[in-house]
Amino acid sequence: MIVSASEMLKKAHEGHYAVAQFNINNLEWTKSVLTACEEMKSPVILGVSEGAGKYMCGFKTVADMVKNIHDALGITVPVAIHLDHGTYDGAKAAIEAGFTSVMFDGSHYDIEENIEKSKEIIALAHSKGISVECEVGGIGGEEDGVTSMGEVADPEECRRVNELGVDFLAAGIGNIHGKYPANWAGLNFDVLAKIQEVTNGRPLVLHGGSGIPVEQVKRAISLGVSKINVNTELQLVFADATRKYIEEGNDQKGKGYDPRKLLAPGAKAIIEKCKAMIKDFGSDNKA
Ligand code: 13P
Repeated sequence: MIVSASEMLKKAHEGHYAVAQFNINNLEWTKSVLTACEEMKSPVILGVSEGAGKYMCGFKTVADMVKNIHDALGITVPVAIHLDHGTYDGAKAAIEAGFTSVMFDGSHYDIEENIEKSKEIIALAHSKGISVECEVGGIGGEEDGVTSMGEVADPEECRRVNELGVDFLAAGIGNIHGKYPANWAGLNFDVLAKIQEVTNGRPLVLHGGSGIPVEQVKRAISLGVSKINVNTELQLVFADATRKYIEEGNDQKGKGYDPRKLLAPGAKAIIEKCKAMIKDFGSDNKA
């Protein structure tokens, strides 16, 4: 069922678990993530960055592809098609193209401009039944060429964005996109607790969900995180499985070079990783 992310995250918040946002990069990714979520009876948010959207020939191609794969596989769990780290224009384009959820990331603007633009996107999206995520404070690391050192969010700014009626809120709490460095200080739970306090139980979003120790993930969920974004982790298992297949010479055996064979181990690795993460986040059997 293709839906907005609003209801599934309200339920997750009440039930003290988190729904994964698994970012998709191509058809194999989409098929694998949807297959894993159906098997686990878990709701899911398919994340699409603007870069991945371009790579897949535009938001309309992505929205249509997801809907068609969803129908062809007979998916019954709730699935949201969500723009990840959208710009102001990107969010409008994704809404137009048939996405059911968008993130407007105005965290690089000053707070007044972030609030002004967030307000506009929220009004536009809500008029069409589409859910909205906004961001306060930066997420560290690099994603799609955008680099940020990360910035712990100011709870007062979170309170103001929350009052706009955003559906779920991403706030920097020391989380980083990509691999975590060995000297990473961990998540800032004091700030997370303060943010949840001033946002009156709004579902919170944890970006950079790859490689966070599971105890920290569980503690973050207990403090109001209801959506966890994962991209790098799936890229790593896909690359490892594909490398192994080639290093073992399998692409040279018979028709092992056929893309349906060559990409199969990576696709299977994505399914297994999604299933394990769904268990860790507690969203299995919640569809
Ligand atoms: P990772 O690539 O670190 O998993 O982060 C994904 C993310 O936060 C997408 O917004």
